[in-house]
Amino acid sequence: MFEKDLLKGRTILITGGGTGLGRSMALRFADLGASLFLMGRREDPLKQTTADIRAKGARAGYACADVRDFAAVESALAAAEKEFDAPFGGIDTLVNNAAGNFLARTEKLSPNAFNAVVGIVLQGTFHCTLALGRRWIAAKQPGNVLSITTTYAAANCGSGFVVPSACAKAGVLAMTRSLAVEWARHRIRLNAIAPGPFPTEGAWSRLMPSTDFEQRAKNYHPMKRFGRHEELANLAAYLLSPQAEYVNGECVVIDGGLWLRGAGEFNDAIDFPDAMWDAFEQEREK
Ligand code: COA
Repeated sequence: MFEKDLLKGRTILITGGGTGLGRSMALRFADLGASLFLMGRREDPLKQTTADIRAKGARAGYACADVRDFAAVESALAAAEKEFDAPFGGIDTLVNNAAGNFLARTEKLSPNAFNAVVGIVLQGTFHCTLALGRRWIAAKQPGNVLSITTTYAAANCGSGFVVPSACAKAGVLAMTRSLAVEWARHRIRLNAIAPGPFPTEGAWSRLMPSTDFEQRAKNYHPMKRFGRHEELANLAAYLLSPQAEYVNGECVVIDGGLWLRGAGEFNDAIDFPDAMWDAFEQEREK
């Protein structure tokens, strides 16, 4: 389904690209012919992922920057310019992947905890989108933005115990849809992916307090499994590819049907044992 050179000639900036889903997307995009520029806070994982991409024969570079700091984002673009010897590194695609989240009772949160998550997710996404969008518009060149949100933003339902994230991700979705219209005339497309559970060290350490909790989450899932990184990376590759040129302002959910399980009143019946169904049906036929 994916041609080998699907993303050839593209230069993709991924925030949080050194680890987790950002890293998985970076490696997949490299397989499809793209050049990668990674941005993140910690140098070691950025360096490692950059080396792994280069080992595939693709072009790659990185810069350390906290997306909460607009000046740092601007400096990272200057580093990309140096690395790839082209204005703002020739970056034509942005993946807003950097995120912060943790499971917590809201009454226990400090204002700073709320700011930390909203700063990374909402302001950070805006900072990167603004920095590149401005440049694409000035250079009259097309651009592509993909933001990673969540199912609780896509379903517009929010979620308890991750309130800062729910607020921030809802904002990212609003920004995606707003700019999809405002910047369409500049040939800039903006879309989002709303993943369900995809295990990463960063997310699991903050969102899955115990193996028991993890097992319950898996049992509750209609498909009885979590997502695989390549499943998300392939969806991202499609949305960024020329095959999806007319997809704009869209948010694609990828969660194996998880959020819908909670939405349908009778969906808990998927866990009824056969014997229970048989007894129920016999009773009805009487
Ligand atoms: N529960 C409650 N409050 C928490 C918390 C938790 N699990 N983790 C951090 N906080 C609070 C801190 O106490 C601090 O508030 P305070 O100054 O009033 O004490 C505030 O959040 C900021 O924490 P700090 O660790 O200084 O921020 P940071 O900028 O270094 O880290 C986070 C940002 C908190 C979002 C951190 O979890 C992170 O770096 N996450 C990135 C990776 C990630 O979250 N991946 C999963 C994405 S799904």
